[in-house]
Amino acid sequence: MNREYSAKVTGIGSCVPKHVLTNHDLEQMVDTSDEWIQTRTGIRERRKADPGEATSDLATTAAEIALKEAGILPQDLDAIIVATTTPDMTFPSTACMVQKNIGAQHAFAYDISAACAGFLFALSNASQYIENGTCQSVLVIGADLMTHITDFEDRNTCVLFGDGAGAVVLSKSLDEEGIIRTELGSDGRHGDILSVPAGGTKLPLTEETVTLRKHYISMNGSEVFKMAVRAMGNSAKKLLEKTGYDIHQIDWLVPHQANKRIIDTLRKKMGFPEEKVFINLQHYGNMSAASIPVALDEAYRSHLIKPDQLVLMVAFGGGLTWGSSLLRWSLELKNDG
Ligand code: UT7
Repeated sequence: MNREYSAKVTGIGSCVPKHVLTNHDLEQMVDTSDEWIQTRTGIRERRKADPGEATSDLATTAAEIALKEAGILPQDLDAIIVATTTPDMTFPSTACMVQKNIGAQHAFAYDISAACAGFLFALSNASQYIENGTCQSVLVIGADLMTHITDFEDRNTCVLFGDGAGAVVLSKSLDEEGIIRTELGSDGRHGDILSVPAGGTKLPLTEETVTLRKHYISMNGSEVFKMAVRAMGNSAKKLLEKTGYDIHQIDWLVPHQANKRIIDTLRKKMGFPEEKVFINLQHYGNMSAASIPVALDEAYRSHLIKPDQLVLMVAFGGGLTWGSSLLRWSLELKNDG
């Protein structure tokens, strides 16, 4: 690819709330069962933030871990991009709050809204700043507190989501390591199959919207399922074609962690071996924009992803939005990692 520099991952970190909400806990709240949830989704438990715990709190902790590993100071960051659909508030952005928390006074900071695919959108932005020489170091965060917008009286959605944050530091490199290419896509015509209808300018929060529970996630699950498999499969195919890599050269597939059945269907469609797919959704559910960076961090810290390996990430979310990104892994886990 014709570019001056490449953007390489030099640090990674993640943070999830302490409180574990199990399927058995949910059995006490709605008409569901551990058996149904595990069979239909693969999820066993998820994390739930405490009241008062905000998206920027988890994002800040994840960022601090990533910065420490990268060995750079916050004031050396040129930019901070946070992908989130659950910002602390409408504005200032969550990225500006992270900037304040970590003391990255030389960075410009903004949020990206692309739902569950947001981390790949942010990664694409960040890698372009580095590739064209605008930035040397960029902090990219995917953070979502989905339980804040989840209706715990709706069994169709409340079993699916959880909270978390993951961060990577991308740094300028002169060699070929790093983000090889990212493919992004959107289709606003299907926005209504996965949305939070109230709370914006179209349907501001009122007593009535709250009574009608319109400030929570509304979803047509089976439609989302079908479109997710199609969009992620097509995106990954296009990415491999454009980069010239063959599916057999990929060492790890790190997909958006929404539903094990979606991942299995996608994997089979792609002809990808099961043992090379990293899945941690059994412990966290769908953490939206946080799901890929948290999975990446866990796979790395479990000594699975190793230097020089090729990692393919694929994601899908409300909007609709989707994307895929191919990454040459560069971090070596130290023994105390
Ligand atoms: O990041 C993107 C975010 N969203 C997603 O990834 C969601 C994608 N979709 C899915 O993961 C799946 O469609 C679900 C897990 C949401 C649902 O699985 P499904 O196999 O598509 O089930 P379904 O929607 O066809 O529902 C089957 C039945 C229904 O009952 P009836 O109408 O057949 O009597 C539902 O009412 O399962 C019922 N059901 C439940 N039963 C027990 C729905 N939720 C539950 C539940 N517990 N929690």
